[in-house]
Amino acid sequence: MSANLNTTHWEHLSKQQRYDQVNSQVIGLIDHSVDEIANLANACALLKEAFGWWWIGFYRKVSNSLILGPFQGPVACTTIGFGKGVCGSSWKEGRTILVEDVESFPGHIACSAASKSEIVVPLWRKDGSFWGVIDVDSEHLAHFDAVDQIELEKFCRSLEIILS
Ligand code: SME
Repeated sequence: MSANLNTTHWEHLSKQQRYDQVNSQVIGLIDHSVDEIANLANACALLKEAFGWWWIGFYRKVSNSLILGPFQGPVACTTIGFGKGVCGSSWKEGRTILVEDVESFPGHIACSAASKSEIVVPLWRKDGSFWGVIDVDSEHLAHFDAVDQIELEKFCRSLEIILS
């Protein structure tokens, strides 16, 4: 099955309207006939189209590390350890982490000097085991807030049905 043609005119929508569209479209975008890589690649592209953020990507847990998965944006570090950086901390603490200023986050991993703020949301499989994280970076300080947390967590809950 091919992806839905996305004709949304995102530029006319408020942040909440974009999230409402994104969280509705992601459900229709999921293609159960293909693997999670294909679905997560489209999920990244949907967020990129809707919000234009600097970097959006998944890191999945493989053995004792987080390994780079599908993403949109500049090249990024491939491996992140447990408890390292914002992503590894989100894994360790099992919760979303919002960072208003990456320079004030101890151990932040700077994949790109342009990244100023970020939000990392953990994803779990159906059986409750930790799968990995989604990491969203902005080139603006304090770009993400409680609305982004609520809506990106909703986005992740929709994706969790296809994680293996
Ligand atoms: N900043 C992240 C690393 C991933 S890149 O930003 C894409 C961190 O500290 O975990």
